[in-house]
Amino acid sequence: MTASSQQPGQQNPPFRLAAVIAAAGRGVRAGDGEAKQWRRIRGQRIIDWTIGAFDAARISPVVAALPPGELDRLPERPDLRVVAGGDTRTDSVRQGLEALEGSGATHVLIHDAARCCVPAELISRVAAELRGGAEAVAPGLPVSDALWRGDGGAVQSVQSRDGLHRAQTPQGFALERILEAHRGFGADAADDVEIALAAGLDVRIVPGDERNLKITSPGDFALAAGLLGAAMDTRIGTGFDVHRFGPGDHVTLCGVRIAHERGLEGHSDADVGLHALADAVYGALALGDIGRHFPPDDPQWKDAASDAFLRHAARAAAERGMRIVNMDVTLICERPRIGPHADAMRRRLSEIAEIDEACVSVKATTTEGLGFTGREEGIAAQAAVSLAPA
Ligand code: CTP
Ligand code: MG
Repeated sequence: MTASSQQPGQQNPPFRLAAVIAAAGRGVRAGDGEAKQWRRIRGQRIIDWTIGAFDAARISPVVAALPPGELDRLPERPDLRVVAGGDTRTDSVRQGLEALEGSGATHVLIHDAARCCVPAELISRVAAELRGGAEAVAPGLPVSDALWRGDGGAVQSVQSRDGLHRAQTPQGFALERILEAHRGFGADAADDVEIALAAGLDVRIVPGDERNLKITSPGDFALAAGLLGAAMDTRIGTGFDVHRFGPGDHVTLCGVRIAHERGLEGHSDADVGLHALADAVYGALALGDIGRHFPPDDPQWKDAASDAFLRHAARAAAERGMRIVNMDVTLICERPRIGPHADAMRRRLSEIAEIDEACVSVKATTTEGLGFTGREEGIAAQAAVSLAPA
């Protein structure tokens, strides 16, 4: 049962999620040099990328199973424990799980250090399933290529791919169940799902992610560098807009109508706040300015509500695999006073851009009577936004 389907008055069972990172392998297939978990990609060791992904998901504690004799290669931190791994991945994970006994954790994510590109959404997907009551859950990708059995360099037969999945980590479990399953297993397993199945656990499958590559062969380092580079592609954009006062009885700012003794002139509803924000998003995407997407001489935008502009810009970001992380807009005018409307504006902007209200800021300033805004000839707005990979 998910938290949202709880009846009023029902108690949530305790849920505390820890992680075990299997990082005690020798990386034989990855070629010469240090074991792969210590090798650097984009300036950071693979193991640090992996631990960083679990830190970002606020999972604590994280237990790393390391090669015996190399336990001092991770920094000392209260929420990071190190244990000596074993000869097989199964042994290493078991050592990590044993270290969690008595820690207060109720559930655990078990992950390969070599999967350093693990997307945040994948960690949340597995965690959400556990939180919803699953005792075991693992990400899998349905096999899409044809499958052959080959021998001696020749295809011997074709294998059905019906129901087959490529297994990934993190695999999530109720801690006591998987610890007990490991203790009773006593052999080597391909992964922890095999051990869970042997103990009779019901293992749910959630969608895996193609980006969750396990670095195995020498060519995988470059692939991972590309994936991590894309994940680091954060953008910022700025926007600025001005509209002149004219006859009217209200202004519309950041999607909120405010009674005023004059209106703002413009082809659309002249909402400087929304225009500056849309321009900031286009700027972050290097997609030109609002005029390119909504030509001012196009009659269909005459008196249009400016919601459409920011919505279009947010959609352009989504189509490029980006999401708006936060938006900040400053309205520059002597009057009307913005303060009393700022919360309504933040709410409206968060609806239009479909982001959390906590990530939307609306501020205002006067120019102390100076310049065109000081003379109350018009209102200006400036905006900044940041974008990150979705
Ligand atoms: N692993 C481990 N303990 C072992 C063997 C493997 O903790 N005795 C970890 C690896 O560090 C890796 C993960 O399990 O993060 C997945 O294993 P694999 O990709 O096979 O890594 P290696 O065993 O290091 O590589 P290879 O098989 O090529 O030697
Ligand atoms: Mg191995």
